[in-house]
Amino acid sequence: MKKSIAVIMILAICVLAAGCGRSNKAEKEQEAVQTIAAAEKIVVGFSQLGAESDWRSANSKSMKETFTSENGYELIFEDGQQKQANQIMAIRTFIQQEVDYIVLAPVTETGWDTVLQEAKDAGIPVIIVDRMVDVSDDSLFTCWVGSDFELEGKKAAEWLYQYTLKEKIASEEIHIVNIQGTIGASSQIGRTKGLADAVKANGWNLLAEVSGDYTQAKGREVMESFLKQYDNINVVYCENDNEALGAIEAIEAAGKTVGSDITGGEIMIISFDGVNESAINYVLEGKITCIAECNPLHGPRVQAIIEALEEGKTPDKFAYVDEEIFSANETVKDLTIGDTVYPVTILQPEDAK
Ligand code: AHR
Repeated sequence: MKKSIAVIMILAICVLAAGCGRSNKAEKEQEAVQTIAAAEKIVVGFSQLGAESDWRSANSKSMKETFTSENGYELIFEDGQQKQANQIMAIRTFIQQEVDYIVLAPVTETGWDTVLQEAKDAGIPVIIVDRMVDVSDDSLFTCWVGSDFELEGKKAAEWLYQYTLKEKIASEEIHIVNIQGTIGASSQIGRTKGLADAVKANGWNLLAEVSGDYTQAKGREVMESFLKQYDNINVVYCENDNEALGAIEAIEAAGKTVGSDITGGEIMIISFDGVNESAINYVLEGKITCIAECNPLHGPRVQAIIEALEEGKTPDKFAYVDEEIFSANETVKDLTIGDTVYPVTILQPEDAK
């Protein structure tokens, strides 16, 4: 409910209650103060797309820990369970509830124009978080904060390229399969493009691309199928860590070994996120060769945007988060992409989770 209207209504109720001669004056005053404080909270409706990965759980946790009552917020959290229809329904409910802000983590990029127009017509600012929306009119949302997913893909592919240069591995010896994320999600689109561009530029052999929907179970299933179809896979590009964990299960169950000796029979795993504890430990063990970070801790970033809006400021329309690339393999020290040099963060035993 809009704060000003709510406060007026609550005050009216308090005056009425006082007039009705309720017994304890101090108690009544205390109640009134508490009720007004509750009505003054900033109400945030958050449409989370689902709970498919450890990254997503960390993202939901960050939002819940930020938008607390102690911090002056009321958070209405809705899990879309990977369905855009559920997210659209949640946004319509938020509009009916007259929340102060809508935060949307969209499952895929397209299909948001109508509902975002409804939010705009209702005068409710919409903040997009994590993945992007592809709308015909950018004024349908106030701003976006998230990752540069194509850059993440470029970093992962550049790591592989630099490794092949250092190890003198010919491009025709690289046989890759890609376990993609949820098709149509910005993170899938960007990471798939990062790989596709490198495949084209370097003449690598991209055997197949299939979605693993960012889950461990689907990652395993897709990898099992790849292993039945191709006997020369030596690089698996997994578009998140949960898929990587599933792929490793499938590879090991097939009696093969994961690692970086790709001309000596091992299968190299390249991944994204860096949130899952097992994935970090697998980097240290050499089972995952490198991870391009995707940072999920957007709660404080969204809070900063809301605070700026509350103060009448105009936050940046697009805010990209700085991210690292992790490996325990010291062959590649840094990556140059465009004009920027990105150092590779070499994980140490004490980073084990
Ligand atoms: O959009 C971010 C991606 O979504 C993360 O990489 C993945 O783990 C999540 O499910």
